[in-house]
Amino acid sequence: MCNKSDIVNRLLADCPESRQSEAAVFAPANIALCKYWGKRDSELNLPVTDSLSLSLGSLGSHCTMRIHDGPADLVQLNGTTLPPDHPFVSRLTRFLNLFRQPPGRRFHIETVNTIPTAAGFASSASGFAAIVKALDAMHGWKLPERSLSILARLGSGSASRSLWQGFVHWHAGSGTDGMDSFAEPLPEQWTDLRIGLLILNSSRKTTGSTEAMRRTVETSALYDAWPRQVATDLAAIRQAIRDRDFQALGAAAEANALAMHATMMAARPAVLYWQPESVEAIQRVWSARADGLALYFTMDAGPNLKLLYREADRTTIEQQFDGLVTANPWQEREP
Ligand code: PMV
Repeated sequence: MCNKSDIVNRLLADCPESRQSEAAVFAPANIALCKYWGKRDSELNLPVTDSLSLSLGSLGSHCTMRIHDGPADLVQLNGTTLPPDHPFVSRLTRFLNLFRQPPGRRFHIETVNTIPTAAGFASSASGFAAIVKALDAMHGWKLPERSLSILARLGSGSASRSLWQGFVHWHAGSGTDGMDSFAEPLPEQWTDLRIGLLILNSSRKTTGSTEAMRRTVETSALYDAWPRQVATDLAAIRQAIRDRDFQALGAAAEANALAMHATMMAARPAVLYWQPESVEAIQRVWSARADGLALYFTMDAGPNLKLLYREADRTTIEQQFDGLVTANPWQEREP
């Protein structure tokens, strides 16, 4: 059995080191159109299935990293220094423990999230991807993107997909060491495609994704069907991207999200991230679609919706859904 340190040691074995005093990087957040739900190895964050995501352009994590002289890492999030017992600091410290060379090295990390964190949108994917990019840049490792994706995956599964803009495919792989479980960008660009964050409820999630996945895999009678559903949906999404068929893309992504939530609702005890506002928004999307608007949604481990639409319909949709934040997956700079 491999652990995280074995993987890090293997990937960094032949790396040159030409340390800079500081590195500043950006990684975009991503939203899966075909979801990752369920681990086959929870130490290495190895997924049961492939998944496919769309980036959020300029919404993500800016990270500045320096070597720190103090007794512990110094972590600042959105301009505030976090206390050492903050859950984000503990998680980050555990991850950075994999990279302290020489042992005992401390880091000063400044992260600024441009994704609306107050709204409860997960920023761990862009956060860990940015940390890995910053480690690579600061140490001068010049790792191939595949290795960066594997390292980001060790921090958070979906972080493996947060190194690129646009469509990204995470291959589940089959090896026990996870060296074949990495993401890569798709060549297709679809420049008028938009994804919007619909902030409905900002309360913190009750069950984290790791626990929710474990419970689903171990107790949900519907989970057996999930890998087959993913294979079908992933093929449909890939084909829709090749054909630039928005209806086919939206329909497959929406159905995939609903199927994922069905697997977790059938877990014992059930996992239900939906709030009354979520159901109301789903009905509004469906009724807008019945009225002829090309609009679809997807949902993750929380009560908020992400809407899929095209630039031509953006103004109409922003008028109908108050507070919607539109992201352009191919535009890294803020407009
Ligand atoms: O990477 P995690 O452990 O935060 O899990 C992400 C799970 C979903 O967001 C629900 C699906 C996905 O593929 O991103």
